[in-house]
Amino acid sequence: MQQGIKIHTLKKIIIAIDGYSSCGKSTLAKALSKKLHYAYVDTGAMYRAVTLYFLDNNINLDDEYDVKNALEQLEVHFERIEGKNTTFLNGNNVENEIRSMRVSDAVSQVAAISEVRRAMVRQQKMMGKRKGVVMDGRDIGTVVFPDAELKIFLTAEPETRVQRRYDELKQKGESIDISEIRKNLSERDRIDTSRSDSPLRKADDALVLDNSKLNEQEQLEIALNWTLALKDSVTQGIS
Ligand code: DC
Repeated sequence: MQQGIKIHTLKKIIIAIDGYSSCGKSTLAKALSKKLHYAYVDTGAMYRAVTLYFLDNNINLDDEYDVKNALEQLEVHFERIEGKNTTFLNGNNVENEIRSMRVSDAVSQVAAISEVRRAMVRQQKMMGKRKGVVMDGRDIGTVVFPDAELKIFLTAEPETRVQRRYDELKQKGESIDISEIRKNLSERDRIDTSRSDSPLRKADDALVLDNSKLNEQEQLEIALNWTLALKDSVTQGIS
């Protein structure tokens, strides 16, 4: 990307990014939203916040009434704190807690519950109502915004994903065995792709981006080029 190129968005669009866990979806989504001056919505964080609430309140996942009631008691929103997208659950900053292994181990089971999905998808559709949004998750291009102007399906080699997750947790000071991460990712892949409600799959019209051998800048350039190629939506000019 040349320095000094300014992107003017004529008509705001929706960019949907889906893919397996730890593929770098949020890294790409954040960078894209920054470049385009779009909002960023991390839908995984929403499912994680719900999971944290369910764990802390001993919600029985098999009890429909319990689940419905809990969903009415919780509110998830995002705020920007020191330039970072931060997740709030019932007014409390839970950004760090939702990334813990305790939540990671339970989130796919919670995200497979139809009641939970319905509540989250409703909110996500509202968040994208005015377009100008980059949203990442598992069902954004298939269920939340099937008409999104740009759909990206991000992939990476399994071991690359394990290493990335390991580095991320280590950086946060969580001491964790790499084999535990391997187990967690493969279990989440299994549940995310095999659940009956909105399983993770590539939308037919999604563009596949394998970033195993790409750095953050390289993957951003590819995604930006795809965005700019949508000629009637976005134009570029030299500022
Ligand atoms: O992207 P992540 O790893 O933070 O997502 C956490 C979990 O939430 C993931 O295992 C599957 C689920 N999820 C989902 O089912 N649908 C989404 N749109 C986003 C996440």
